[in-house]
Amino acid sequence: MARPHIEPFCDRDEAFKKLMLPNLAGGMRYKMLSLDGDSGACSMTCQFDAGYRRTPGFSWSEWEMIIIEGEMKVGDKVWRKGQYCYVPAGYAMPEMTSEQGCLALVMYNTGAPSHEESTEHHPLGQVDLYHDVDSFMDLAWAPGNVTKPSVAAGCMIKLLNYNPISHAMTFLYCMTPNFYQDNISYHDCAEEGYHLWGTSWMMQFGDVPTGGYFWRPAYINHGAFASEYGCIALGRTDSKLFNHFHYNPWSTPVANANRSEARIYQRDPLLYKWAFSKDHNHPHGPEDFEQTMVRRGDEEGHDIARYKSDGKTHDHWHGHHHHDEHSEHHHHHHGDGNDHHHHH
Ligand SMILES: [Fe+2]
Repeated sequence: MARPHIEPFCDRDEAFKKLMLPNLAGGMRYKMLSLDGDSGACSMTCQFDAGYRRTPGFSWSEWEMIIIEGEMKVGDKVWRKGQYCYVPAGYAMPEMTSEQGCLALVMYNTGAPSHEESTEHHPLGQVDLYHDVDSFMDLAWAPGNVTKPSVAAGCMIKLLNYNPISHAMTFLYCMTPNFYQDNISYHDCAEEGYHLWGTSWMMQFGDVPTGGYFWRPAYINHGAFASEYGCIALGRTDSKLFNHFHYNPWSTPVANANRSEARIYQRDPLLYKWAFSKDHNHPHGPEDFEQTMVRRGDEEGHDIARYKSDGKTHDHWHGHHHHDEHSEHHHHHHGDGNDHHHHH
């Protein structure tokens, strides 16, 4: 998801536009919050006009929605404020109608918004992953410690969706009245937020009011935070969330990324080498698989035989290939005060 940094932004400052997409035109207006220009994935505030009707069917993109105001009838159920759904690509929803109109936050995650009329799921849809919940009424607030280290007390979480492969999360978060957190955060993941209600304050970007939104790429400083009267928001991350906390408001995203690498190096030097040593992580060609086989102790194959007969033995876990072209561009990121043990 390559979306630009959007912050500060408030959808209340924008006008709705008519959505003009095949099968989605008619009665659906939107404010674009963020857009991935490559895939068409996007987050939008959507106004479904009174009398809105969408035929049963599925989208070619995974999508999520939370109702902000009004009611949407989905099959024989009535969805109200706070109703959340996670809909896998290819999952056929029943007819959706709104008699009085409805305001919702709608997110298409893997492609542009689309609608294919159908009463059957697409045969390749991961339909078991579908779920919906009244997030306001049927879930309890939990301490904001789903990630480590924990945010300050008074920022509470309701986890709405979790992807076990990417570790991406969707969650509600709230700040209690008079909440504050005095440190500065950055993350290794992109982070998205939309204020369903209330205002919070951030040192870098000022007040985030009702309708306030951000799409924040990795390593950008945010915080300290405060909220005088409290707020409730929907948040998402695109991968594993770790809270890097510090107190230097002048650090740059590059410096933050380097510090994050240094932290991984401290915790697990082998993981650091795997993740950040460029020559070992970027596929060049068949020799990469040669290394894989050496690690496995695979004795077969003439490439391996050539490798072993070149007189260089390798006693560490990943076999280097000592081509001159590699040493010329063998740059490593260096974190704060860490030494690296590379043998060349
Ligand atoms: Fe954050």
